[in-house]
Amino acid sequence: MRLKDCHNFHDFRRLAEKRLPGPIFNYIDGAADDETTYQRNTDAFDGCDLVPNVLAGVKDVDMSVTVMGQKLAMPIYCSPTALQRLFHHDGELAVAAAAEKFGTMFGVSSLGTVSLAEVRKKHSNPQCYQFYFHKDRGLNKAMMQSAKEAGVEVMMLTVDSITGGNRERDLRTGFSIPFRLSLKGMAQFALKPMWGINYVTHEKFALPQLDDHVDMSAGALSIGRYFTEMLDPSMTWDDVAKMVQEWDGQFCLKGVMSVADAKRAVDIGCTGIVLSNHGGRQLDGSRAPFDQLAEIVDAVGDRIDVIMDSGVQRGTHVLKALSLGAKAVGGGRFYLYPLAAAGQAGVERALGLMRSEIERDMRLMGCKSVSELNRDNLRFRT
Ligand code: FNR
Ligand code: LAC
Repeated sequence: MRLKDCHNFHDFRRLAEKRLPGPIFNYIDGAADDETTYQRNTDAFDGCDLVPNVLAGVKDVDMSVTVMGQKLAMPIYCSPTALQRLFHHDGELAVAAAAEKFGTMFGVSSLGTVSLAEVRKKHSNPQCYQFYFHKDRGLNKAMMQSAKEAGVEVMMLTVDSITGGNRERDLRTGFSIPFRLSLKGMAQFALKPMWGINYVTHEKFALPQLDDHVDMSAGALSIGRYFTEMLDPSMTWDDVAKMVQEWDGQFCLKGVMSVADAKRAVDIGCTGIVLSNHGGRQLDGSRAPFDQLAEIVDAVGDRIDVIMDSGVQRGTHVLKALSLGAKAVGGGRFYLYPLAAAGQAGVERALGLMRSEIERDMRLMGCKSVSELNRDNLRFRT
């Protein structure tokens, strides 16, 4: 199987599984507890059907959107994800370059493996910085400062990960950063020598957003331990209100799910919220963002940009979310498997396929522009 044989999410996933050592594939592919929320995220889109209109003169289709002040040529962006150079040696730089070609936004994680400033220098498309709020206030201050200096457009504070989700696949493989693995996990690495060769012959693994403040040499840190030991579970709305003021620009909360929280986000001056359950990786049994979207749009959609992520695999998923009132949609695994499968070329292929799907489906729906998508285009199954 090769890149040109990949026509959808599942094809990329299979190719990624072939290329990656088991523990790394399972880190991307896995989620919390029984992974029921992970499954529901995508199933939720099947709870409603698109109702097309015909004969609408759809020769030219405009799928661009403006979200948090950023004009995006397509309505889906690459949500920030950790550790990308483990998935492919070009990591964040490959994703940023591909997103730039398609005129869309991408995020750099607090746990990113390339510095946000380096990515910023090389690429000019809108960039968001995903912030984890640490116990170490000096680290928080420094992160805020470097994001400002780099000229990042959007600050994205993740609020659903105040403690580590229970990722049982990672417990079994012993996945941690830097690597320390169970014997079974290690055997999995031996099975993928090409990955190993690429890993050791490229720039040494690093977490430039954190390295000055965190001593990673002290031993392997699991993602669960990072969340639980380094992030601050006492964070409150007051802390965030101060951050919003200090940032003084586009600021969104990633992982808001309730109407009450959405209203509070408006009250403290956020310009966006991302409905998200972290791709099912945190609270298993929590509601799918798509199921919760209408309620949130109705409550705050006229005062704040409502965005959603989690479970998006198809152009039609994006169109359903936009029809309910989302301003844009984020995705994680839809570009991570392609990154693992083939680096920048993989992400470009995934974005290209997604763009053609959205364009084709808008034509089939009878919509010339995103503003024509609305709830009349949807019927929910009861
Ligand atoms: C993530 N996600 C994530 N989110 C975040 O705020 N900071 C991070 O560092 C990461 N890291 C990360 C790693 C991996 C491997 C995955 C799969 C996800 C969550 C991500 O931004 C997004 O919310 C989900 O991926 C959306 O779900 P889908 O599109 O993967 O179903
Ligand atoms: C994850 C992180 C790092 O989901 O957000 O693995």
